Amino acid sequence: MPERVQKAKRLLRGLVLMSALSSTAVLAAPRDLIIDTDPGADDVVALLFALASPEELKVRAITTVAGNVRLDKTSCNARLAREWAGREEVPVYAGAPTPLVRTPIYAENIHGEEGLPGVAVHEPKKGLAQGSAVQYLIDTLGGAEPNSITLAMLGPQTNLALALIQAPQIVKGIKEVVVMGGAHFNGGNITPVAEFNLYADPQAAEVVLRSGVKLTYLPLDVTHKVLTSEARLKQIRGLNNHASKLVGDILDAYVKGDMAHYGLPGGPVHDASVIAYLLKPELFSGRQIHMSVDSREGPTFGQTIADWYGTLELPANVMWIESGDAQGFFDLLSERLARLQ
Ligand code: BDR
Ligand code: CA
Repeated sequence: MPERVQKAKRLLRGLVLMSALSSTAVLAAPRDLIIDTDPGADDVVALLFALASPEELKVRAITTVAGNVRLDKTSCNARLAREWAGREEVPVYAGAPTPLVRTPIYAENIHGEEGLPGVAVHEPKKGLAQGSAVQYLIDTLGGAEPNSITLAMLGPQTNLALALIQAPQIVKGIKEVVVMGGAHFNGGNITPVAEFNLYADPQAAEVVLRSGVKLTYLPLDVTHKVLTSEARLKQIRGLNNHASKLVGDILDAYVKGDMAHYGLPGGPVHDASVIAYLLKPELFSGRQIHMSVDSREGPTFGQTIADWYGTLELPANVMWIESGDAQGFFDLLSERLARLQ
């Protein structure tokens, strides 16, 4: 066969393969997702990000937990995020008002009295869904196809822990749990060694870890590398819609504290990295490692012990994300916010 014909045939095979691949990408069903959250400035950015991405993420519900502020306030802010995203059909269930064992702590010093700095908070038009978040998790995960539902955990893990304690069999319905939490290389943000979400309910994190679900952790190690800058905030504001103005105002107020405290050139948007990871995991890198949580009283309370080098020779139980493409993250966030009103 002449070289010319062989070349044309190879080209044709390549084109057929490419079109098959692109039609698979278009046809891939969106991921079934429940977002468990304690809004919170960065939680609200994460919610807007996820709700603006329906092609990839089918947000079945938002479940709220006490954390950054009290449960009534986190539930109000979750409903506000849903309203701002124009996605009022997504139900919001309120969950646990207190952690499993420890006394509650809040982070009003970072997120403001209402849990949302930089913007005015009002009572959203639509109320909460009937029933508790914990019962919703039990019913939904219990009745789901095996390995079908992903959970994004953006706050203390109390709701999922309570659901797993009451109905351990629900683990079957879970495809994956992606957590914003923990710290190893970076050090902590609420104590020198503990990150806020783990410190706020370490016993809950232990229950989830022990359940054997597939777990991915996005700790401070990565979120403190994915930082705002003046140019990135300008990029968001330049989108010129209501959502981008809100995110610009929230982030302007939110990042200042961390920049001053850590001497960073910009601030982290922690929880939004979970959504970016679900949309574009190639922006991040990490390793399968063994991790444990310290829930003993004392200076290491709430610390995540991440065995990055495999020193303990124990089986890996989490995917620990260590770094991320910061500009890639802000480009993706901007692209998605541009779709909102
Ligand atoms: C985490 O703690 C909370 O204050 C933030 O919302 C984020 O989930 C960062 O440590
Ligand atoms: Ca949070």
